Amino acid sequence: MSTTENHKLDIRRPDAHVIRRPDAHVIRRPDDWHVHFRDGGMMETVVPYTARQFARAIVMPNLAPPVTTVNAARSYRGRILAAVPEEVRFEPLMTLYLTDDTDAEEMSAGFRDGVFTAAKLYPANATTNSASGVSDISQIAGVLERMQADGMPLLVHGEVTDPAVDVFDREAVFIERVMAPLVRNFPELKIVFEHVTTSEAVDFVRARYDEAPGRMGATITAHHLMINRTDIFRGGIRPHLYCLPIAKREQHRLALRAAATSGDGPFFLGTDTAPHAVAAKETGCGCAGVFSAPVAMQVYAQAFDEDNKLDALEAFASLNGPAFYGLDVNTDTVTLERVESEARRRVLAPGGEEIESFFGDDKLQWRFSHS
Ligand code: NCD
Ligand code: ZN
Repeated sequence: MSTTENHKLDIRRPDAHVIRRPDAHVIRRPDDWHVHFRDGGMMETVVPYTARQFARAIVMPNLAPPVTTVNAARSYRGRILAAVPEEVRFEPLMTLYLTDDTDAEEMSAGFRDGVFTAAKLYPANATTNSASGVSDISQIAGVLERMQADGMPLLVHGEVTDPAVDVFDREAVFIERVMAPLVRNFPELKIVFEHVTTSEAVDFVRARYDEAPGRMGATITAHHLMINRTDIFRGGIRPHLYCLPIAKREQHRLALRAAATSGDGPFFLGTDTAPHAVAAKETGCGCAGVFSAPVAMQVYAQAFDEDNKLDALEAFASLNGPAFYGLDVNTDTVTLERVESEARRRVLAPGGEEIESFFGDDKLQWRFSHS
C-alpha cells in the first residue's frame, strides 16, 4: 500500500512493510553527484533522505534567486547542514550558478577557499529556475579560462534551448553545437556532462575519457536507468515521470544501463533528485523533475542486479565520482539487501505540500541500510 508520511520520518527505517529477505551486497558509502535540495520547508523535508544514503552530494544552485555568490553558497550550505539529522554524517558540496555576469575572481576565490566544489552551466531557460543561465558560451570565455587554470570542474546541463529543436533531440544537438566546441576550445577544462540520457552522450563522454582520463565524466540518474519515453505515457500521462532532460527511446535507456553498469571511470552516480510539490506537477503545465531521494540506492541496486552487474555498483556509486573530483573515497560502508518492500508514495513537507516519490507505486526490490 502506498502511504503518505510525515516529514519527521525515522530515517534509520525508511522501508515500510518488509515482505521477504535473503542476500546482501556491501559497498563503500556512496555519494550523489547531482541533487536539488531547494530551500525552506521543502529543503528541510528532502535533505534527510539524501543525507541518510549518501556521504556527500553536489548541490545544485538553481534556487530562486540562484546561488551566484560566495556568501549565498555559504549561507545555503549552513541551512542544509541544519537540516541534516544528528545521527548521520553528510557533507554538502556547493556549486556556483554561472551567468553571463559571473565574476571570475569571486568564483576562483570561492573555489580556493573550498566554498565551491564546481560551477554549473545552465543554458538560459533550459530547465527549472534557469532564466538567468548563460545565454551563450562566448559570454563566459574568461570564466572558463579561469576554471581551466584552477582545475575547477564545470557541470553542464547539456540541452540546447532552441525552440526549433525537438525536445527529444536537445541533448544530441547540444553535443554538436556546444559540447564538442567547448571541449575543443578548453582542452584542459574538467567537465561533467550531467544526467546523460542518450547513447550519443555516452559515446561522446567515453571517447573524451579515453583520450584523457579524468578530463570528462557523466552522471546518470536512477530514473533514466528505469524508464524510457513510452513510460511517461503508459496508460495516460504521468507527470511524475516528466523531467529534463526528458527520458528517451528504449535504445538510449539500454545505452545508459550499459554505461553505468560497466563500472568504467567516466560514469558515476547523480540522481538529479528534483522535488516539486504535487500541485506543481499535476497541473496544466507541470514542472520538470523526478524526486528519487527516498529510493535512490534501492533503485540503482535493482538496475545493476537486473543486468547481473551488482559487482560494478560500488565503482559507479562510490569510487568513480571521488576519483573524478579528486576527493577521498568514503571509508564507511552501506548494505543493500534483496528484500521486497512497498515504497512510500508521498512525503509531506511542512505547510502541507506533498511530494511524490519515484517508484512510489512500485515495490522496491532492495533495502538500504548502514552496515
Ligand atoms: C531540475 C529541477 O527541477 O530543478 N529538473 C529536472 O527535471 N531535472 C532542473 C534540472 O536539473 O534540469
Ligand atoms: Zn538537475
